[in-house]
Amino acid sequence: MTARRAPEGDGAARLVSACFFLSAIAGISLAVVYWRGGQTQAEGALWAVALGLLGAGFVLWAHHLMPTDPYAEDREPLETTPEEQHEFADDFERGGVLERRRLILAALTSAVGALAVALAFPIRSLGPRPGHALDHTPWRPGLRVVTSDGQPVRAAQVPNDGLVTVFPEGHTDSADGPAVLMRVDPQLLSGARGDAQWAPEGLIAFSKVCTHAGCPVGLYEATSHELLCPCHQSAFAVLQGARPISGPADRALPQLPLMIDADGVLRARGDFSSPIGPRTWNMR
Ligand code: FES
Repeated sequence: MTARRAPEGDGAARLVSACFFLSAIAGISLAVVYWRGGQTQAEGALWAVALGLLGAGFVLWAHHLMPTDPYAEDREPLETTPEEQHEFADDFERGGVLERRRLILAALTSAVGALAVALAFPIRSLGPRPGHALDHTPWRPGLRVVTSDGQPVRAAQVPNDGLVTVFPEGHTDSADGPAVLMRVDPQLLSGARGDAQWAPEGLIAFSKVCTHAGCPVGLYEATSHELLCPCHQSAFAVLQGARPISGPADRALPQLPLMIDADGVLRARGDFSSPIGPRTWNMR
């Protein structure tokens, strides 16, 4: 069986190249739109045009410029003389195949290159690297513990077995500063994280940000001394350094070391005992 090629017309080659070049223009436009601040509808339309034209170019290429029939090579000696090679090259050039191929490849390269550039732009949307910002919260040694309205919390104000949401002074709107403050019987506290150094008079505080997925921990079961997260029902044992005892959380709530100043006002001894929130927040 002899080889037979589909018609390789210049018109088809120009059409394929036009698709790829127009796709490149759409890709560049997409990059420009994104660079200038982005516009969702325009970006979507340009993506559709760029990818649609790229696909159309491939389809036209396959249909009009590629061999369509199956063919088999005759079993003949494989050696070719230099004359035959020159003849073949002359035939090839004469038919304009190389020019068309260069044109199509140039158009395809520009289209793919423009789309690659456009794809690289969203990397800017990731924002700056967080660095060590997630390791720290506004809590600092000596900072007063305040309520949501900025009022200092006095040790005597915290009720037995009650829960108060507290903030670092000057940072009542911070997302990583809220803590839950409770008063428990000091006799029940034990261990390095629950001793009098960190929980004076049984006043003990932990980060309010759940270590599972970041929901606010806001429920306190006083009889069992458990903090509860309403999102997925994680429970934390307050008397054991807020270690998780049920639910999906797998890390203890970071503890806020406290002290009571001469005026009876609660102050932080420092930042939380470990980075707050889900473990994934702290991955770099
Ligand atoms: S966010 Fe607290 S249990 Fe899921």
